[in-house]
Amino acid sequence: MPKRTIRDLHDLKGARAFVRVDYNVPLDHGQISDDTRIRASLPTLDELVKGGARLALASHLGRPKKGPVPELSLKPVADRLQDLLGVTVAMAPDCVGPEVRKLAETLRDGEVLLLENVRFHKEEEANDPAFAGRLVADTGATVFVSDAFGSAHRAHASTEGVSHHVRTSVAGLLMEKELRYLGMARDNPAHPYVAVLGGAKVSDKIAVIESLLPKVDALLVGGGMAYTFLRAEGLLTGKSLVEEDKVELARRLLEKAGPKLRLPTDHVVASAFREDAERRTLPVDQIPGDWMGLDIGPATVAAYTEKVRPAKLVFWNGPMGVFEMKPFAEGTLAMARALAGSGGTSIVGGGDSVAAVTQMGLADQIDHVSTGGGASLEFLGGDELPGVACLQDA
Ligand code: 3PG
Repeated sequence: MPKRTIRDLHDLKGARAFVRVDYNVPLDHGQISDDTRIRASLPTLDELVKGGARLALASHLGRPKKGPVPELSLKPVADRLQDLLGVTVAMAPDCVGPEVRKLAETLRDGEVLLLENVRFHKEEEANDPAFAGRLVADTGATVFVSDAFGSAHRAHASTEGVSHHVRTSVAGLLMEKELRYLGMARDNPAHPYVAVLGGAKVSDKIAVIESLLPKVDALLVGGGMAYTFLRAEGLLTGKSLVEEDKVELARRLLEKAGPKLRLPTDHVVASAFREDAERRTLPVDQIPGDWMGLDIGPATVAAYTEKVRPAKLVFWNGPMGVFEMKPFAEGTLAMARALAGSGGTSIVGGGDSVAAVTQMGLADQIDHVSTGGGASLEFLGGDELPGVACLQDA
């Protein structure tokens, strides 16, 4: 069901909006190392600012569990956002309380206030109704705009709870775009539809594999999770990552999937989990007993690329190998190239796969780079995301 968006709001001038964004960005020694999520929120903020709305932006950063942590302050985000948006972004010392009330009251049309990390309060993750009420009351908001697709699988106070305290809850333009592309993949995919799944663990991907299997024409598996499947096929996997308690489940999935589910045929194996470890490229049925598989091999890259190129729709989530170590990054980089070269609609979601696409300067050749890793998987897995369900239907 499509959702109302900020385009459906007619009286933006002077309107006080509580805007949930996902500024959970990677930090390296206090510096933002990837501002994709901040940039992705700009179209919505631009539109609201130009319309004269008064904005209180809310986000989490990291997973603080015991109150405020200075390293997880959103202050660096406020500075970056101000540069990108070209509008002054005031930083609040908290997300609720008298100071916030004062700052929100002094906002004029088109002005922006960034609230401090909502997870500095434990009531955020508990989706405490009183806390959600304070977020709305202290910012004086009458409208809830959610542009935080990346957090929409979390039923938290700022992603879901606030919707119960305002009359109007709508999607931002990023949220709208995410729902359009991922909704197409879930509900109305063009064929051939190819999904590429990687990452360390099968256990994180079970729901999405089950939901994808009846819809896709091919499901290409790589990364650490491939080894649980290879073990289920009876192969020796050395010291590769295998989830022993999921081998039986992997066997059942293989049976159900038949030839649709493709596994690597060769891999790059290493003597240790180290960048400078000795390495070899071998067929998957060969691995020295105490070695481990850390990337897909060139024959697998070629076979997967051949499937991806003619696809009308490709969805990719998860690295094909240990992407953060250069000698084991090639499989993941090759998948980024394959998606960029595919003639059909391409969608990439999830940290490392998005990083691979960005690192290679290929992001603009991908139709949709999702800002949600976990959220995109839960969405495709068929779950109704609480941060989407709470928005008004169009
Ligand atoms: C993400 O980065 O996946 C989202 O911001 C959600 O973060 P979380 O997994 O800490 O809830």
